[in-house]
Amino acid sequence: MPNKIILDTDPGIDDALAIILAVNSPEIELIGITTTYGNVEIEKAVRNTFRILNFIGRLDVPVYRGAYKPIIEEPHTIDVIHGSDGLGDIDIPAVDMEPAGDAVEFMIKAVNMYPHEITIVSIGPLTNLALAILIDPEFPNKVGKIISMGGAFGLTPYGYGNDTPVAEFNIYSDPEAAKIVYDSGAEVYAIGLDVTNNPKTMVSPEEREKIRVEGGRIGKLFYEMTRSLAKLSHGIHLHDPVALSYAIDREILSFKKYWVTVELVGRYTRGQTILDRREGLPGFLRETPNIYVAYDVDGDAFKKLMWNRVFSR
Ligand code: RIB
Ligand code: CA
Repeated sequence: MPNKIILDTDPGIDDALAIILAVNSPEIELIGITTTYGNVEIEKAVRNTFRILNFIGRLDVPVYRGAYKPIIEEPHTIDVIHGSDGLGDIDIPAVDMEPAGDAVEFMIKAVNMYPHEITIVSIGPLTNLALAILIDPEFPNKVGKIISMGGAFGLTPYGYGNDTPVAEFNIYSDPEAAKIVYDSGAEVYAIGLDVTNNPKTMVSPEEREKIRVEGGRIGKLFYEMTRSLAKLSHGIHLHDPVALSYAIDREILSFKKYWVTVELVGRYTRGQTILDRREGLPGFLRETPNIYVAYDVDGDAFKKLMWNRVFSR
């Protein structure tokens, strides 16, 4: 029985690959895509979602418009990574379509219609999810799982910041939203840079060339989308598809439950995800674990999934 999934996204190059992975995975019933500001401002996130769905012939998937800014601060997009259009400035057409409705309203309605059955995969800032929790007190008890790409938890040598020295982009974009989600009591699985910065999950220059030559139509789209990105760094990160993989194959990522909170006020540490690793202490001296955090990834299994479901298509 496929998992009912809502994908909450700020497309974004790696988000686009996650959308393609989702629609090409029989383990997933994609009941809707909710959009958020993040890599790009909200209207570009909506536009890019339709551009990707149109490119893969899946305009049947309903799209919803979400938050245009964080709860407190102003949004900060990163054109240098994702290009001015948010998809690496690739030449794929826009589509003149309007979203089916409001993202937060859709999340709340879906979770109340299918209690405990919906997995929400958030691959952008957590603002939409935080708003759903603030509006519907039953939301954390009724949502199935929340899978969140975000954070840097110090569980591996790769678990440090990208947007700041200590904070990961999605969490740094809206730290208050992340704290609301982490503290909500929902079943949260956080996939941070600890595993998505692992070279085993990244596309090397050699592999990118192989994708160009041996990949299918999507493989060539990936190559074109990452033209600028490939000049910026030695490998291409696939942060969002790594996170989504947990909704497809539970064996790819390994999790452990920890107490986690989010720094809100530090001048240099705002948006840092703080994790209690004092496992040697007796329980009454430690904080009570609240979310599951990814500490390892099977890179080979993940890459095989990406080749079978995305790059070779
Ligand atoms: O830090 C990586 C995250 O920030 C990914 O979701 C990427 O798309 C950007 O949103
Ligand atoms: Ca993203």
